[in-house]
Amino acid sequence: MFEILEKKQLNEQVTAMTISAPFVAKKVKPGQFVIIRIDEKGERVPLTVADFDSNKGTLTIIFQAVGFTTKKLATLNKGDFITDCVGPLGQPTEFKAPQKAIVIGGGVGCAIAYPQAKALHNMGVDTTVIAGFRNRDIVILEEEMRNVSDSYFVTTDDGSYGRKGFVTDVLKELIEKDTYDLVIAIGPIPMMKFVSKATEQQAIRTIVSLNPIMIDGTGMCGGCRVKVGGEVKFACVDGPDFDGHQVDYDELMRRNGLYREEEAHACRMEGVLNG
Ligand code: NAD
Ligand code: FES
Repeated sequence: MFEILEKKQLNEQVTAMTISAPFVAKKVKPGQFVIIRIDEKGERVPLTVADFDSNKGTLTIIFQAVGFTTKKLATLNKGDFITDCVGPLGQPTEFKAPQKAIVIGGGVGCAIAYPQAKALHNMGVDTTVIAGFRNRDIVILEEEMRNVSDSYFVTTDDGSYGRKGFVTDVLKELIEKDTYDLVIAIGPIPMMKFVSKATEQQAIRTIVSLNPIMIDGTGMCGGCRVKVGGEVKFACVDGPDFDGHQVDYDELMRRNGLYREEEAHACRMEGVLNG
């Protein structure tokens, strides 16, 4: 059992939870994920580790309450327990040795971009963060991102906060003016696709973190199949990080949309959640 030590509401839908998981916290590295189950009958939910403290034995997960289980998880509080937390899973991010990097988080993807920016900053890399949101009300992790970056830009689609526009608008300006040798982009698939298109022209190494449908998380079910450089890869064991210039984003979008209809049936969940 894994105790919830802290809970923080980042916006109406996004929650951060710090849980006690000493064995995972000792080994986890930025880019890796865990699979949690709330209780014995619960579904398995893969969540990238947003932060960790190996000494304290804690992990922070940040999730958007969109499906049945994440909505249920959001009802738990400090002092409650989660039945399972398995990990660390997947490959850690391979930063290599960049001089100047840009880390891009799109919406809730900022939760995964944050540990990447923190790791680069701690390595002494000149790190710029671009965080994009639909509007001011859903901006998350601003202070945390500012603390681990040399420059921080925030964009909103409607212009209600920071720069009006998409993260790619700021990215294009930055890479035209200056030289960067690494871009990390985490967020909605179209965002990662267009970031990769922009950086490809200047041959800037680009890492994206993919979130296909996952079931076992150990490379056996094939659920997380993605096509990268024309080859089939499994995001849970080969990723979740991949070369952004090689990913078949259109196929990923098609596969991720397979269960959209079922996920949209919130009415069925409400009964269970309230029951
Ligand atoms: P969103 O749709 O509000 O987009 C966030 C930002 O991404 C936008 O403000 C914009 O700056 C940028 N963006 C979106 N579409 C773009 C485009 N076509 N071109 C350029 N930039 C674009 O994000 P959200 O609703 O918070 O994110 C939810 C999505 O992110 C879900 O689909 C979720 O599955 C995905 N997600 C992915 C990961 C991952 O590991 N890759 C992690 C968490 C969430
Ligand atoms: Fe089953 Fe990756 S989640 S193979």
